Amino acid sequence: MFNKSYANKTVLVTGHTGFKGSWLSIWLNMMGAKVIGYSLDPYSDRGNFTASHLNNRLFADIRGDIRDFQKLNEVIRQYKPEIIFHLAAQALVRTAYNNPKETYETNVIGSINILEAVRQNDFIKTVIMVTSDKCYENIEQIWGYKETDRMGGYDPYSASKGCAELAISSYRDSYFNPKDYAIHKKAIASVRAGNVIGGGDWSDHRLIPDCIKSIEIGRNIEIRNPIATRPWEHVLEPLSGYLRVGQKLQEDPIKYATSFNFGPHISANKTVFDVVTKLVEYYGKGKVVDVSIPNAVHENILLNLDVTKSYVMLDWEAKWGLQAAVEKTVDWYKEALICSDMYDFCVKQIIEHGGKGIQ
Ligand SMILES: NC(=O)c1ccc[n+]([C@@H]2O[C@H](COP(=O)([O-])OP(=O)(O)OC[C@H]3O[C@@H](n4cnc5c(N)ncnc54)[C@H](O)[C@@H]3O)[C@@H](O)[C@H]2O)c1
Repeated sequence: MFNKSYANKTVLVTGHTGFKGSWLSIWLNMMGAKVIGYSLDPYSDRGNFTASHLNNRLFADIRGDIRDFQKLNEVIRQYKPEIIFHLAAQALVRTAYNNPKETYETNVIGSINILEAVRQNDFIKTVIMVTSDKCYENIEQIWGYKETDRMGGYDPYSASKGCAELAISSYRDSYFNPKDYAIHKKAIASVRAGNVIGGGDWSDHRLIPDCIKSIEIGRNIEIRNPIATRPWEHVLEPLSGYLRVGQKLQEDPIKYATSFNFGPHISANKTVFDVVTKLVEYYGKGKVVDVSIPNAVHENILLNLDVTKSYVMLDWEAKWGLQAAVEKTVDWYKEALICSDMYDFCVKQIIEHGGKGIQ
């Protein structure tokens, strides 16, 4: 898989106890990487990290705060990862409205702590910094945002990701400039994905977990922002993109030290209402109710990504359409009701996605 780019490599994954980080850790594990996880405790007993018993399956499972540079740097110096995937973040828009300072500290200073550790430790060679599609200045355009568009962010979460991108770009220009690769021997990319769905996410204020929780207890599914359009994609889509970037950075560190968008085909840019309707239909249970309120906190209505660069440079495109993404997601939650260890089920979904076949 990925041309054996990860076999026997020591890889630090920050945010490994979270939704995307847990799936990424499983995928790296399957490819024979030594995964060192660095995160806070998992926020739910039912999340994919716990459901897949990753505490026993990774090379090291470390609990630490990304804002604590001393501890982060000690862990990095102890395990000497050659590759870093940085996913640790306060990842929720609504939580960020309530805790803006903590969100900026985690998402901006946390990212700078990783960049600083990269600057201080020669053994780190390849770094993939995960930000978000929300890093772009949102002008409610119908066209997708390109990697060269302006950074921005109306709300604290989006702005924290825009700020993280500026810090990454500044560190890359100043310390890891591709034109000086022969001197520093480091390659850094940032990756921006849209709204991700998949099994094992139990975060508050996220659409799929909210739907599943409501269905399980027989409550109406209340949707706050039915007309908001998002680039929905299954979690394995951006992760396959991140892994591809990591592979390409190792093969050609000068060419690929840049930023990449990972979004679905334009046909998967659907409204919240469309997604919930598909989920209820496939689950076979649930009732949708529109509870949008006029003075709700600001959320952008239109947000699409242009993925031409990833398609052309990485030969990457999303494999599953929205229907398949919803079905794989529902399959995971239904399986978790009867299965006490979801690791093999996750492996099966990764293989179904084409993980074994990707070159
Ligand atoms: N899920 C999405 O739809 C989506 C979309 C765009 C971007 N992202 C980005 O992808 C990344 C992963 O998102 P996710 O959905 O898995 O989020 P998540 O909330 O499920 O997981 C977040 C992870 O970060 C860790 N973390 C949070 N604060 C920390 C701190 N102070 N110190 C150390 N670790 C800390 C948590 O312990 C957890 O492991 C984030 O950077 C997020 O902003 C997610």
